[in-house]
Amino acid sequence: MSLVNMSKLLKDASVNHYGVGAFSVANMEMVLGAIQAAEEFKSPIILQVAQVRLPYSPLKVFGPLMIAAAKAAKVPVAVHLDHGLDIDTIKLALELGFTSVMIDASALPIDENIAMVLKVKVLADQYGADVEAEVGQLAGSEDGSVDHEMLYSDPEEVLKLYTKTNLDAIALSIGNAHGLYKKEPKLNFKILEEARKRVPIPLVLHGGSGISDEDFRKCIAGGIRKINVATATFLSVEEAVRQYCKEEKRDYFSMSKAMVCGSYANVSRHIKVFQSDNKV
Ligand code: 13P
Repeated sequence: MSLVNMSKLLKDASVNHYGVGAFSVANMEMVLGAIQAAEEFKSPIILQVAQVRLPYSPLKVFGPLMIAAAKAAKVPVAVHLDHGLDIDTIKLALELGFTSVMIDASALPIDENIAMVLKVKVLADQYGADVEAEVGQLAGSEDGSVDHEMLYSDPEEVLKLYTKTNLDAIALSIGNAHGLYKKEPKLNFKILEEARKRVPIPLVLHGGSGISDEDFRKCIAGGIRKINVATATFLSVEEAVRQYCKEEKRDYFSMSKAMVCGSYANVSRHIKVFQSDNKV
């Protein structure tokens, strides 16, 4: 059990046709709630933190906490750097023991994206870690600071990225977006199907918050193996604290417990939708 490579989890998910939740975390309570859910539902999970969130959860402090929690877990847990933006941060995550990293060079033309992925792949190989990259660009950004235009993934570019870099997982842009959707998302399953036909490696769906359960199931049936969920867990934790604050008698530790419960509630809900329960 405990700390494992992301590719190991995604391989089992591919063989047994389910999705693995990659849950973004920002503090100890969120980590504890996510792992509690994974243990209770006997599910593998991925704990991740995005580079843009590091000003709030510094990698040198928070990274070792994530690793320690994964090692102590009774289920397999991969620890992942989400949307890595530069080599120094990626290298630090690898040194701390993260078992996978994402390099997000998706804003660059495909050949420059490939060149960045190759650099990260060489580095990650030295640590025995896995690499995820993205083709196309999601609308919005992980911290809501930028409102990118959406650029759908081109399946031919997905193939090119895979053949040139031999990376471990590719994130697609099929109408999904980071943060809360302004209107109901309409996923383009044809792109997923075309990408699936071209590459044998696990595909990744970012922007999990706000996707319907039915679309999650269709994505999993279409070959998505890693599903990123961030905003929904942050909201769940925030709401748990809001409710807690209405109580007459309050103290810090009870509030901390409410945060754990908020994280647990959202992670367990997604574990069941992704059908990763009882897979350990
Ligand atoms: P959401 O915040 O929309 O769930 O997106 C999470 C994500 O894709 C992180 O990379």
